[in-house]
Amino acid sequence: MKIGMLTSGGDCQSPNAAMRGVAKTLYNNSNDVEIYGFLDGYKGMITKNYKLMKEEDFSGILTEGGTILGTSRTPFKYINEPDEEGRDKVAGMIKTYKDLKLDCLVMLGGNGSHKTAALLSQKGLNVVTLPKTIDNDIEGTEMSFGFQSAIDVATRTIDEIHTTAASHSRVFIVEIMGHKTGWLTLHSGIAGGADIILIPEIPYNVDEVLNTIRKREKQGKKFTIIAMAEGAISDEDAKLSKKELKEKRKTYTFPSVAYQLSDELQKKAGQEVRVTIPGHVQRGGIPSASDRILATRIGVEAAGLILRKDYGNMVCIKDGKFSKIPLEEVAGKTKMVNVDNELIRQAESLGISLGRKA
Ligand code: F6P
Repeated sequence: MKIGMLTSGGDCQSPNAAMRGVAKTLYNNSNDVEIYGFLDGYKGMITKNYKLMKEEDFSGILTEGGTILGTSRTPFKYINEPDEEGRDKVAGMIKTYKDLKLDCLVMLGGNGSHKTAALLSQKGLNVVTLPKTIDNDIEGTEMSFGFQSAIDVATRTIDEIHTTAASHSRVFIVEIMGHKTGWLTLHSGIAGGADIILIPEIPYNVDEVLNTIRKREKQGKKFTIIAMAEGAISDEDAKLSKKELKEKRKTYTFPSVAYQLSDELQKKAGQEVRVTIPGHVQRGGIPSASDRILATRIGVEAAGLILRKDYGNMVCIKDGKFSKIPLEEVAGKTKMVNVDNELIRQAESLGISLGRKA
């Protein structure tokens, strides 16, 4: 059995744990396994840049963050455009698959990477995928690996900001990763005891943010922590069309949304604010214990699909149980935080402001 394997898109702490899960299960259940690791994502498959893996390559990597295969982004919107060397990307990947006589391609990736995986599957390649992203926004699965480790990092940042915010009686915005969805901000915001949580799915009202700060002051609470997703948007901006918003953003001089909100709070009410952005730290370091378990289990399930020749699927978690979902049902969709999500209800019951007008 010849398997191609690659990691695509933004990395996280647990792809190695997941690949180890796949490989160990395959080696353990078949005497005839060859794994070809494509280097740096789909790029390695396009350019036929691979490494024939040995069983021992998958040992000792459970706790190693990042990916031993390397990764890169191959945006789907340019998939039909030639690469920098003039190569046809899709034809290149199909050729590599055929030249190596692969039985299956295993892809670990997030939203964008699943579009390419679904395309390759449509083109006749046998593909099995694993949901990898700190954003937890892949359609069809309740949880992706990477998410839990990132929650821990973001939570630790909020924890650490708490002490200095309290000492100085300051307002802090901690900007958390997530351009399109607010899962990471919501979870780490609740775990870190943020007072205000701003996510892309719920446009925030600046006055409401200010009211919450003032209300806390009146209660004798001299500091406020705002957990803000990097894709959070004000209710004013949310009213604009895509084109209008793009134009408006061209006039901004702020490096990110946290600085924009900080500026608005300063201008509106003279509110002094500090901004902290943990950035890629959220994807770095060793995977948390629960993330290692999840990644390993997803890896085992992916190997099961390969051994049963049950191709064209992503391993997923549905109603708390491991399952599979066809790639065409995953590709091109984003799992947003539903405003009726019970976490939102519980956060607001707790007195956390989501920035929306009461
Ligand atoms: O998709 C994961 C993610 O970390 C997002 O949360 C973030 O917006 C983006 O990747 C950052 O991308 P890059 O690593 O390419 O800067």
